Amino acid sequence: METPLQPTLPFPACSAGRFLAVSPDKRPGESGESEYALMVKQAGQAAADSAVDLGYIDAPARPAAVQPKLKVIEGQGGKDASTFTFIDLFAGIGGLRRGFESIGGCCVFTSEWDKFSQQTYRANFPNDDHEINGDIRAVEAADIPAHDVLLAGFPCQPFSIAGVSKKNALGRAHGFEDKTQGTLFFDVARIIAHHRPAAFLLENVRNLVGHDKGKTFQTIKDVLEQELGYKIDCRIIDGRHWTPQHRERIFIVGFREDQGFCFDDMKLPDAAPKLVEILHREGDESEIPDQRFTVGNSGRVADKYTLTDNLWAYLQRYKEKHRAAGNGFGFGLVGPEDVARTLSARYHKDGSEILVKQEGKGPRRLTPRECARLMGFDSPRGGDFIIPVSDTQAYRQFGNSVVVPAVKAVAEHMKPHLFAALGKRPKAKLG
Ligand SMILES: C[S@@+](CC[C@H](N)C(=O)[O-])C[C@H]1O[C@@H](n2cnc3c(N)ncnc32)[C@H](O)[C@@H]1O
Repeated sequence: METPLQPTLPFPACSAGRFLAVSPDKRPGESGESEYALMVKQAGQAAADSAVDLGYIDAPARPAAVQPKLKVIEGQGGKDASTFTFIDLFAGIGGLRRGFESIGGCCVFTSEWDKFSQQTYRANFPNDDHEINGDIRAVEAADIPAHDVLLAGFPCQPFSIAGVSKKNALGRAHGFEDKTQGTLFFDVARIIAHHRPAAFLLENVRNLVGHDKGKTFQTIKDVLEQELGYKIDCRIIDGRHWTPQHRERIFIVGFREDQGFCFDDMKLPDAAPKLVEILHREGDESEIPDQRFTVGNSGRVADKYTLTDNLWAYLQRYKEKHRAAGNGFGFGLVGPEDVARTLSARYHKDGSEILVKQEGKGPRRLTPRECARLMGFDSPRGGDFIIPVSDTQAYRQFGNSVVVPAVKAVAEHMKPHLFAALGKRPKAKLG
């Protein structure tokens, strides 16, 4: 932990076993002393927050360590009804954060342990008055400031097809049995248990739903609904409604009190953007030159992004081998009128999932700038997102991230319910 924000309160370390020990027919706060209720009692501060929430006592003065952030909020809009606080866990480069800032949220805590992602995050959120915390497993929930919304795109690997098959091949455990990554969901759960935010948004790969014959997802749902007492709803959303990329991700939204939130009535845009909208404008001068990725004033993509003859020959041989064996592995060759496959964190290796056709030569990778556009960090022709790291790191970061406009749409859909939960808008305005 880098910077304790509040004095540490006596709070026992949580584990999967502790959460699962609660009887499923007991909701937090009910008599019968659920595990959660006991934890709240032990946590002290959380008990006080719960009492305020329930209207038993008036809100106490905030602890001194949290006050600077409140000043920032006031500075951004006084006691503006549209302001709320959130925390950004497994923050990566802040894709979820962008979505919630777009509806007026203020980030009060960040956790991301990768130093290169931290570099990109800092460069793009330079005005934060909080440090980026590292390993979330080492952070006491009590050291995290109170917040209205918790955001977490916990790591995909233990739940993804690629991760599972690789680990199975190595004879190692996966999912919740995985000793390192598999327990990170439980860090999310212990923070929710301690702070009881009004709402949360969790994001993960689509495959989370089917992992281990559905048991992993069922466990997650059980923890969120039965042990933590949240009302949740989920939806798999494809980023291709906003950017020219198929990227299906599951979004899990939870509200502490039932606010009538439902994904069914969330309309997805009909737009079907094509790659031409995010590719560098080769051959004309309509794009502001970016010498890192393009050459001269014409937006011509630098030669380093074209695959070497050897790599291109290898990928073609590999694809042919698998085609002959009857399976579909291989590269994805695209042109301006296509939609790309999912950008992965391993794109830096051979770029095989998205190769852009070129006249008279082998294909090329997308540039990191095009990846920023493909993920919606930049507008289609934009170049504002700061990429302070190497191409390799940038590809990893974008490949791990979220389609920002998809998150914005989810945040917009949550907004009336969230503000109703926070008493910021009359509930009558819902729907
Ligand atoms: C799937 S990515 C989330 C990306 C993020 N939603 C974004 O918009 O960029 C998961 C992130 O969690 C980080 N991470 C993994 N384990 C962590 C840990 N124990 N503590 C903090 N961060 C961790 C990884 O470095 C990675 O950036």
